[in-house]
Amino acid sequence: MVPSTGHNKTKTAVFISGTGSNLKSLIKFSRTSKSPISINLIISNNSKAKGLNYAKTYKIKKKVFSFKNKNISEKKLLSILKTNDIDLICLAGFMKILSGNFITKFKGKILNIHPSLLPNYKGLNTHKRVLNNKEKYSGCTVHFVNARLDSGKIILQKKVKISKNETEASLGKRILAQEHRLYPKAILKIFNL
Ligand code: GAR
Repeated sequence: MVPSTGHNKTKTAVFISGTGSNLKSLIKFSRTSKSPISINLIISNNSKAKGLNYAKTYKIKKKVFSFKNKNISEKKLLSILKTNDIDLICLAGFMKILSGNFITKFKGKILNIHPSLLPNYKGLNTHKRVLNNKEKYSGCTVHFVNARLDSGKIILQKKVKISKNETEASLGKRILAQEHRLYPKAILKIFNL
């Protein structure tokens, strides 16, 4: 990614479906002087997503699209991204799959965070599957989004050692804490900072 010219940061939209703890960490990072991005828009497919409250707290524009008709929602979404000059999209716990057409329009400009060491454990219920398979390590990955689920080029990963008596909840919590650090680092990396 090439940083925006002048003093302007790259305008970024964060897509969420739930709690939005990664959104919060990205907002905090974006407001530091070293951040190459500003967060100008929060998008959700879920009007009840807790993370939408951060729009009010941090005075950021928000928009909800149902995605019941993906084609229609994506058309409206593309238009609002355009009117807001959005040049980077960060998926952060966004549980809808974007169409190939949408991804092509933002080629190389959509990032995602996933709670596993990709290419292992794509998809849902990662912690449960990791524990069932008695893995020694799990972790999290920030990657570029392509048309295949959780398959784009990896930007950064953080390994987390699985402890004795680990539960899905304890592992999820420890990985989430690492996610909050990894996403900002991955953004610095794609801007060569
Ligand atoms: C995070 O653990 C994120 O990696 C995961 O959802 C959680 C969202 O938490 N994303 C996926 O599983 C995507 N396939 P948050 O809403 O508190 O950021």
